[in-house]
Amino acid sequence: MKRATLDLLCCPDCRGALSLDDEHGDDVVNEGTLSCSHCGRDFLIGNGIVRFISHKDLEGLNRYFARFYDRFSRFEGVFDKLSFLSMGGERKARMEILHRLEHNNGRILEVSIGTGRNLPYLFESAETCEVYGLDISAPQLARCLRLADKRGWPVELFLGMAEVLPFRSETFNSVFHIGGINFFYQKKKAIDEMIRVARPGCKIVIADESERVARFIARLLRLSRSNQGKKVDTSVPVHLIPETMEEIRVDGIWKRHGQYHGYCLEFRKPA
Ligand SMILES: C[S@@+](CC[C@H](N)C(=O)[O-])C[C@H]1O[C@@H](n2cnc3c(N)ncnc32)[C@H](O)[C@@H]1O
Repeated sequence: MKRATLDLLCCPDCRGALSLDDEHGDDVVNEGTLSCSHCGRDFLIGNGIVRFISHKDLEGLNRYFARFYDRFSRFEGVFDKLSFLSMGGERKARMEILHRLEHNNGRILEVSIGTGRNLPYLFESAETCEVYGLDISAPQLARCLRLADKRGWPVELFLGMAEVLPFRSETFNSVFHIGGINFFYQKKKAIDEMIRVARPGCKIVIADESERVARFIARLLRLSRSNQGKKVDTSVPVHLIPETMEEIRVDGIWKRHGQYHGYCLEFRKPA
């Protein structure tokens, strides 16, 4: 993590300011501790990744999916390639979403960055300067870090929950999410957080599998009632977007055999 990134962060619990305790005082911080001046919580930095959560903090579906992706991480690349094959390939499937982003030569946040499979496409654009990625799974982030380091891309990574982002309000010029929200533990909270950290006038893009596909996955993974006993809601979360947002639209994406397998929801935070 760059030392300057500290200015963008806050405590995910109480939004207090964080101070850095590291031994070397270098511009890049690989090991150290962030402490919240308000609630006193400490967050460890390891390999340049700040760990804002540990497994014991996670509840319901978040706990389930953190464990799931910890194990699934090594297969994700092959799985994505195969799943997108019949939709014209991974590049086409990802660009259907990514071409909607407005990079604005600024900071881009990917909520649930996973292993970083969107990074190659993001860095094809000359307008991509810095990417910030958060995910609930440490093995997913470890893979993402290796990819970014190998290619020399400026990417900052954080272990955390979409529902409580560790970033100060109005920090990012572009915010997007792909592929996890259908099964987030608290979708509304995650959407409100994306809006909070986006700058005024910022476009926010959210994509995931269609309701039909999500219901199939929920049955396959036996998730139907695993959200604290409540039925898992697999609907497109357009009803969770506050009325104050502008230019709200939903499109079908990932077409195969005449049917859309995903949705892309986009909207703008008022300027
Ligand atoms: C299907 S992967 C998508 C990864 C990446 N966005 C992509 O397009 O390849 C879903 C990701 O969501 C993450 N995830 C699931 N629940 C989350 C939560 N509550 N907060 C943050 N990340 C979460 C998982 O760890 C996983 O990396």
